[in-house]
Amino acid sequence: MIDRDADKRLAANAAVREIRDDMLVGLGTGSTTAHAIAALAERRLRIETVATSEASARLARSLGLTVRDFGGVERVDIAIDGADAIDASLRAVKGAGGAMLREKVVAASADRMIVIADGSKRVDRLGPTKLPVEILPFARGFVAGRLSRLFTDWRERADYRTDNGNIVIDGHGWDDTAPDMLAATLMAIPGVVAHGLFLTEIDAAYIADDGIVTRLERGRNPR
Ligand code: A5P
Repeated sequence: MIDRDADKRLAANAAVREIRDDMLVGLGTGSTTAHAIAALAERRLRIETVATSEASARLARSLGLTVRDFGGVERVDIAIDGADAIDASLRAVKGAGGAMLREKVVAASADRMIVIADGSKRVDRLGPTKLPVEILPFARGFVAGRLSRLFTDWRERADYRTDNGNIVIDGHGWDDTAPDMLAATLMAIPGVVAHGLFLTEIDAAYIADDGIVTRLERGRNPR
């Protein structure tokens, strides 16, 4: 049986080898990123970090890493983050952990954005993966009505708030033939704060499958 957690650690360790002294590193969120944070702490490099969630900030600080407030940061050298699904063109769905808004901001600020994942996350099509949408609570009813036109089914996460105080609706059954259109449509709905489609942000991915790590680079992979 494939040890998915061991694969997550392998992918994380491979990505962390890209980190050098004096870098400002964006820390993603989730179980795979937790391995990267541990590996970074172990390397005892002279780096600073910013975190995409309170959970990652807590973990990083507990392991001795310096975590800066992102509010005072314009760019980071490199960001490392997990994904829920990623295709050969390095388009991904993220946000199962609800951190997609801060993840997207940090990814956009990064000179290089790396996804780390175990092989179960590699997909031919993104559509079967639920797509998280972060919504201002004030706009819940209005946005839910609009989302009904874009998803065959959707569920609001029960008793859940993001680090930004917003709610999350997971959309199921979406048309993945033009994800850029869907991304634009979602962001045009007032009250939608973020969604989990990462279509252009990712520069590279380290994916570990049953002990073998593959590195994918944007624009250089066979489809
Ligand atoms: C957090 O909101 C997500 O985007 C995570 O990066 C993603 O869900 C991957 O998480 P795991 O590494 O735990 O699978």
